[in-house]
This record gives sequence, C-alpha cells and structure tokens, in this order.
Amino acid sequence: MIQDLIRRLFGRPTNKAMTPEQRTTHKENNTMTTYTIFGGTGSMGTAISGVLTKGGATTVAVSAEEAPTATIEGDVVILAVPYPAVDEIIATHREALAGKIVIDITNPLNFETFDELVVPAGSSAAAEIQAKLPESKVLKAFNTTFAATLSSGKVGDLTTTVLVAGDDEAAKKTLIDDVTAGGLDALDAGSLKRAHELEAVGFLQLTLAASEKIGWTGGFGLVK
Ligand SMILES: NC(=O)c1ccc[n+]([C@@H]2O[C@H](COP(=O)([O-])OP(=O)(O)OC[C@H]3O[C@@H](n4cnc5c(N)ncnc54)[C@H](OP(=O)(O)O)[C@@H]3O)[C@@H](O)[C@H]2O)c1
Repeated sequence: MIQDLIRRLFGRPTNKAMTPEQRTTHKENNTMTTYTIFGGTGSMGTAISGVLTKGGATTVAVSAEEAPTATIEGDVVILAVPYPAVDEIIATHREALAGKIVIDITNPLNFETFDELVVPAGSSAAAEIQAKLPESKVLKAFNTTFAATLSSGKVGDLTTTVLVAGDDEAAKKTLIDDVTAGGLDALDAGSLKRAHELEAVGFLQLTLAASEKIGWTGGFGLVK
C-alpha cells in the first residue's frame, strides 16, 4: 500500500551524472560490479539501479514474474522486494546465492498493524536472511533512504547517505565504492548487528512519512 503510494508519487527516478573525477577513482579502484536486483522493477529497485549504473556498475532487473526462473548474474544480489517475498527467493535460488554478496534493503513492516516489525525482538531481517544463507555475505543497506532521495541525491540540502552494515569488509567496500561513484554518500555503519538499529531507523522514518509529519522526499540526513 505504502509502496504503491510512493510509486504513484515519484515514478521513475532522474539521476545526475557522475563527475569525471568520481569515474576515474571508481575505475582505478577496479570495482566495476554486476548487480542482479530482485524487485528491480519497483520503486527502490529502479532508484538503486539508477545510482549504481550512474557510477559505472551494471544492473540486471528481475520482476516478480521473472523471479522464480531468473539467472543470477554477477557477484552481488539486491533483495529490493517486500520482506514476505524474500523467503521464496531464498528457497528458489539458495545454491546460486552461495558465495554472493546479498544486500537486504527491506523494512520488515507488519502490514496488518503498520505498528511494528515482524522480525524477532533484537534481531533484524538482515540477520534472519544471513542465518538462512550462511554461505552468502549479507549486507543491510538502503533501508534508511526513501526511493525519492536516492533518485534526487538529496535529503533537504544534504547529500543522501546510504548506511551499510555487514560482517564482510570487502563486500561493504564494494557497495560503498559503487554508491559513492553514483554520486551519493555511503557510510559503513558497522557489523551486521547494526542492521537492527538501521531497521529501527527505517521503521521510524516510514511511520513519520505515513503519518504525513515528513514528506516521502525527506527523511533523516547525515552530517559528518
Ligand atoms: N519505497 C521506499 O522508499 C523504501 C525505502 C526503504 C526501504 N524500502 C524497502 O524496499 C523494498 C521494496 O519496496 P518498494 O517501495 O520498491 O516496493 P515496490 O515499488 O512495490 O516494488 C516491489 C518490487 O518487488 C517485486 N516483487 C513483489 N513481490 C515479489 C515476489 N513475491 N517475488 C519477487 N519479486 C517480487 C515487484 O515486482 P513487480 O514489479 O513485477 O510486481 C517490484 O519489483 C521493501 O522491502 C521496502 O520495505 C522501501
């Protein structure tokens, strides 16, 4: 429901170009990456793809209909789907996901009450996914940024910052480099344990927007 509202409000994103300096740095870092994005046709999948491709990465969008038979390309998979859809993707693609970086962007909202998250107390969707995919390198990212702020690159006057949590340092660096190359800020927020706090922040931001206390083009910004 909320996702439909966001899609109606913001449609497809527009993106500003990466500066020559950013592109050079990105190439020198040799971090060209291919991302398979489940939910790549949705609001977040489209916005994330815009950022990553602007930075020089390749993205492959997978729709709901394609998900059961999709071939996973590249070393990174983004789960840009509603949390209830994650289990089916894991069940179908478990073997292909082994060894990959798996990025969970979900805010695991209870869609009946809109008043709590559905993951066990103290845990997170990302931790639950990591437990189900022990051979994958799970990251939490993008859940604290609305789709519109990924597309615009701005939260108010601030550059949009993508917070990234995970236990694999190289995996985090890959994503942070690609997001930065795409013109946004990205920050290592710590180990995968911090996904719990990121999901709390994402949930709070969602409730503020749903109750119209902030706009879907706003949200939390970060000043370093
Ligand atoms: N919207 C935001 O600003 C925002 C911010 C932070 C986090 N998130 C999180 O991002 C995720 C996606 O949100 P969204 O706003 O992008 O939603 P959305 O616009 O409704 O897009 C959902 C995407 O998931 C796909 N999908 C739906 N059910 C599926 C299934 N059973 N199997 C495989 N794919 C399925 C859809 O494919 P089709 O297009 O083919 O139906 C679509 O590409 C959610 O977990 C949400 O909590 C959203």
